[in-house]
Amino acid sequence: MIAALAKKLAAPFPGTWDRNYVATKVKTDPLYGAVYDELRDSHLPLLDLGCGLGLLAFYLRERGLAFPIRGLDYDPRKIDSAEKVAAALSHTALDFATHDARSGLPEHSGNVSILDILQFFTPAEQQTLLELAVARLAPGGKLVIRSGLRDRSWRFKITVFCDYFAKLTAWMKAAPTHYPAADDFTRILSPHGKVRIVPLWGGTPFNNHLIVLEK
Ligand SMILES: C[S@@+](CC[C@H](N)C(=O)[O-])C[C@H]1O[C@@H](n2cnc3c(N)ncnc32)[C@H](O)[C@@H]1O
Repeated sequence: MIAALAKKLAAPFPGTWDRNYVATKVKTDPLYGAVYDELRDSHLPLLDLGCGLGLLAFYLRERGLAFPIRGLDYDPRKIDSAEKVAAALSHTALDFATHDARSGLPEHSGNVSILDILQFFTPAEQQTLLELAVARLAPGGKLVIRSGLRDRSWRFKITVFCDYFAKLTAWMKAAPTHYPAADDFTRILSPHGKVRIVPLWGGTPFNNHLIVLEK
């Protein structure tokens, strides 16, 4: 099932690089499946911050979740690609826009996702973004985050190396700035509800964790 989904999601992307990236990501990274598991029983709209190519939105639609999804990213190339792929897949209630999350967030009430982008923010910017995201959760809503965590593990060293490599190849516009530690999430999020932090690296060598706040 995953191989067929990866093929379907990759096909509408225009360039070979993006097609290979999407297929590999869907097949090897447990990220989108984990977000699906968190949101499968929700009907609330989703705000996806740093949505990249829009892959989370397409994945959730293909697995039958119909709530409205708004994806924001500061890279216009990725937003342009996401809009074209949304049209090609004929998905409805998807909206993508170019937006720098450091300049604040639009109005929203529902669930919020922040996947693999916090490392581009300073500690102060991370705290501000998390607080703005919490303020946009509806009652019963979830803030679903994935982040590499700063610790002493070999996984953390590989995570940092690969993020610098992504900048070198121009896949990412920026090099990483700062990785949050588990304690940062507990400190900032736990006043607002129940916080869970669990490993989410699957078959990858990265120090990725899933952090979920249930309001
Ligand atoms: C590693 S990618 C993750 C993409 C997507 N969240 C996913 O998991 O498929 C990180 C994304 O964050 C975006 N990003 C980084 N800094 C940002 C900012 N200040 N505002 C909005 N997007 C940002 C990048 O353009 C990139 O698409």
